[in-house]
Amino acid sequence: MNENRMLQPTTIIIFGATGDLAKRKLFPAFYNLYIDGRMPKGFNIIALGRAENTDEYFRNYIKENLESFSRKKVTSEDWAGFQAHITYFQHQLDEESSYKDLYKKLQDFDAVYGMRANRLFYLSIAPNFISTISNHIKNTSLASDPKKDRIIIEKPFGHNKQSAAELNSLLAETFEEEQIYRIDHYLGKETVQNILAFRFGNSIFEPLWDHKYIESVQITVAEEVGVETRGAFYEQTGALKDMIQNHLLQILCMVAMEPPASLKSGEIRDRKVDVLKAIRRISPDQVDHYAVRGQYGRSVVGGREIKGYRQENGIAPDSNTETFAAIKFYLDNERWQDVPFYVRTGKKMKEKHSYITIQFKPLPHSTFSDTPHHLSANRLIINIQPMMDIRLLFMAKKPGLAMDLKPVEMIFDNFACQDDTPEAYETLLQDALLGDLTLFMRSDQVEEAWDVVTTIQEAWENNKDLSFPNYKAGSWGPEDSNTLVERQGHNWV
Ligand code: BG6
Repeated sequence: MNENRMLQPTTIIIFGATGDLAKRKLFPAFYNLYIDGRMPKGFNIIALGRAENTDEYFRNYIKENLESFSRKKVTSEDWAGFQAHITYFQHQLDEESSYKDLYKKLQDFDAVYGMRANRLFYLSIAPNFISTISNHIKNTSLASDPKKDRIIIEKPFGHNKQSAAELNSLLAETFEEEQIYRIDHYLGKETVQNILAFRFGNSIFEPLWDHKYIESVQITVAEEVGVETRGAFYEQTGALKDMIQNHLLQILCMVAMEPPASLKSGEIRDRKVDVLKAIRRISPDQVDHYAVRGQYGRSVVGGREIKGYRQENGIAPDSNTETFAAIKFYLDNERWQDVPFYVRTGKKMKEKHSYITIQFKPLPHSTFSDTPHHLSANRLIINIQPMMDIRLLFMAKKPGLAMDLKPVEMIFDNFACQDDTPEAYETLLQDALLGDLTLFMRSDQVEEAWDVVTTIQEAWENNKDLSFPNYKAGSWGPEDSNTLVERQGHNWV
């Protein structure tokens, strides 16, 4: 966000550097930042892995993956410059001596920089290792300077409110809150950030942004992919914990928050917590009324058989894990009284499409009531991915002699402005290097978001859904998800 501040020399330490996230997202993001001149003048990436490897072997492995996952082309000149910053370091997560060796390595780099550099620890590992790593970092004083050292933690952050609070307390033994960067990669997406610009950078939308003019809000994150190779992880997670508790609630916060006084990270994060606090809690006996779960079953699409969730690797044949969730939320504050916020997400849906729909109320009186025209109420659609645009639907006169009306769209297309958009991880890693916490989750945000879904989570974990599988792979989810919105005279857009 603050591109112009000078970046201090930094050593980046990646735990889990041989894993999937590192090769698909982290190294490509650092490489692209490097090409764009956005890495600090002095930087080193220490890639930690359990196995014995040479720097040369690891660098080649990264290069091969960059060819597939980098946004920008890998040229020999750029690569030659970048690869010199990567060091492989054999490391055992649970052995204190490994951390002491790492300490020496960091000091060696500091000697070359000629100063104590910033340290950015990236935990790209299974959540059960966080406490081990954090304790060893504390015991070996690896992060001894609160002004210079930061830690990035991937989701899932806990698996319910209590475990998230425990994790927060544990991290607080080693790091101050301002040093902790809890990633939600949706917040780094260009179109999600644009919600702030759209809402607070214009004078014409904000006055309409409340219950007086808005009928309902819909947030859809539909994925075409299934659980791929992550069956074992997903079986313990499900759509509610994997997507709604974090990504969808964060998007909801961006849509519903009050205008912040400034773009200071504390301001924006405070306004988001206000939204989470205002979300009406769903009582246990109302879960079925406000929330719908689904699990995809086998189907045939275009003559091709698609596996159901229970046929995927690592999934129990009678699994109760939901691969789809839709919830109706209400916010108890002045702005959003009685406006339903419908959110839904699912795997193996008809298409990959993430978007927000702001449905405005119909006109109180129609001047065109004596004509055959059906007036569509105004609607704003913010397409997050794969399309990245903002569309405003309104009525216009058809050119011609008669007074005929038709709905038309006004479109702002991100791609038309810039066809080369940074990946979410580039934005987030740059912000972490700069020390800008705005797009990261604060401890209270995470705990509050867990609180919002607690009753649904408990009801779904404790009660088996006997209708599973209840939607076909390649569809828009279970029929009940339509009923959820139709009960109120609405439809999924
Ligand atoms: C991750 C979830 O956080 O987000 C995955 O764990 C999901 O299950 C992914 O597929 C979706 O991210 P994106 O950026 O592809 O929409």
